[in-house]
Amino acid sequence: MEPDLQTALKQAMRVYAQGVTVMTIRTEEGPKGITVSSFISVSLDPPLVLVSIAKTSQLHDLLKAAEAFAVNFLAEDQKSVSDRFAGRTQARDKFDGLKFSQGVTGSPVIEGVRAAIECKSWRAYEGGDHSILVGEVVAAKTFNSKRPLVYYAQQYTTTELMEYPAPPSDMVW
Ligand SMILES: Cc1cc2nc3c(=O)[nH]c(=O)nc-3n(C[C@H](O)[C@H](O)[C@H](O)COP(=O)(O)O)c2cc1C
Repeated sequence: MEPDLQTALKQAMRVYAQGVTVMTIRTEEGPKGITVSSFISVSLDPPLVLVSIAKTSQLHDLLKAAEAFAVNFLAEDQKSVSDRFAGRTQARDKFDGLKFSQGVTGSPVIEGVRAAIECKSWRAYEGGDHSILVGEVVAAKTFNSKRPLVYYAQQYTTTELMEYPAPPSDMVW
């Protein structure tokens, strides 16, 4: 890609607000995880979601080969969890001292997250310097009423709800 276009794309993407998740898997060497904001809900029938993982990531091959994974939606008080799984802290084992449970697929569900989705791996696609990993959702849980962690302009922030008509009564918050 032309350097100018690459810079322009990076600049534009910085002002695209994204939720922050940690994708987790269970491996023979213990639980593993990576901070991911490329999470997207793809389809309801079948229920599919995707994440896009850099081929340069140390975890890339393990994530691509995993039979199942969880996507943990971080809450606003979990900046340090995001930093830890983005390799921004010195933690040798990223799960050290972190409370988590095993979900129905055996994938780690981190304590205190806003919600978690568990998937069976469905397909993997080439995506340039990333791999697009699509999962079939087998469980989805919403845990608390904290605000979500959001990444915007290279900083963490959260949402502020605008005045809006009351949500439908069957909506889970
Ligand atoms: C907010 C945020 C979102 C990120 N989203 C992604 C993503 O969607 N895909 C990806 O491959 N890396 C993403 N990263 C970068 C990875 O988290 C980071 O490169 C990785 O954890 C480094 O791990 P490694 O040292 O094991 O390779 C993101 C980082 C941050 C801080």
